[in-house]
Amino acid sequence: MPQWIAACETDDVDPEDVVPFEHAGNSYAVYRSPDDAFFATDGYCTHERELLCDGLVMGGTIECPKHNGRFDYTSGKALGAPVLVDVRTYPTKVEDGTVYIEVP
Ligand code: FES
Repeated sequence: MPQWIAACETDDVDPEDVVPFEHAGNSYAVYRSPDDAFFATDGYCTHERELLCDGLVMGGTIECPKHNGRFDYTSGKALGAPVLVDVRTYPTKVEDGTVYIEVP
């Protein structure tokens, strides 16, 4: 059953940046867009399981630090080789300065 989990405080993530979040043995990446919206994806790249939070956020994309594959972190869409499989995304919400993500 899905549940909302507190991932971080809004101040923990700069605009156009990403932070890691671990829960129940799973890794997630929490993003803040330039216009202060929050998004969440799986923590690992779908190419060779590199941590996405070590990558570069540019506008609405995250660039994997290993082979520079890029994803649209708002939709999870893989944007071209070498990443061919979309990364999973999770709903987010902000309440009282805390960012929550909905995990399965
Ligand atoms: S591990 Fe991410 S692009 Fe290769």
